[in-house]
Amino acid sequence: MEEVNILKAGHPLLKDRSEDITEFGSEALSELINRLFMTMRSHHGAGLAAPQIGISRRVIVYGIQNNPRYPDAEPIEETVLINPEIYFYSNVENEYYEGCLSLPQLRGLVPRANMIQYRARTVDGEHIDKTAFGFEARIIQHEVDHLEGILYPSRMQDMSTFKYLEA
Ligand code: NI
Repeated sequence: MEEVNILKAGHPLLKDRSEDITEFGSEALSELINRLFMTMRSHHGAGLAAPQIGISRRVIVYGIQNNPRYPDAEPIEETVLINPEIYFYSNVENEYYEGCLSLPQLRGLVPRANMIQYRARTVDGEHIDKTAFGFEARIIQHEVDHLEGILYPSRMQDMSTFKYLEA
């Protein structure tokens, strides 16, 4: 499979609201999912949303397994969420330095809900309704933001924490 480029902040597609997937179990959908996982792994990302590879559709993937970008993170199973919708956010939040493959080398402190409840569809179109906590909840919130055209700097409350990793 060819190398897939990740769109960088400033690209208009990253500011659009992505469209729902309406056809499940198609070859086009599994190809999109494969490209997302391949691209996420090759860039050592913890998650990736379809608009980041130029596809304005509501598909996200995430997962962490021995990831050098997140050496201290607990492993998270590789997951696909289609048309995800977060319908509950806990009042309790935590702050953590987030990164994004569309803003390479940068990190910023972002508050996110500790716990979320969300609905989504699987690859085959099955409905799921789940709860996520901690880092997984953070990743889902970050990736769902991508589907709304939102990048994490818009979620930061203290811009003085926005910095280059190397600094
Ligand atoms: Ni991102």
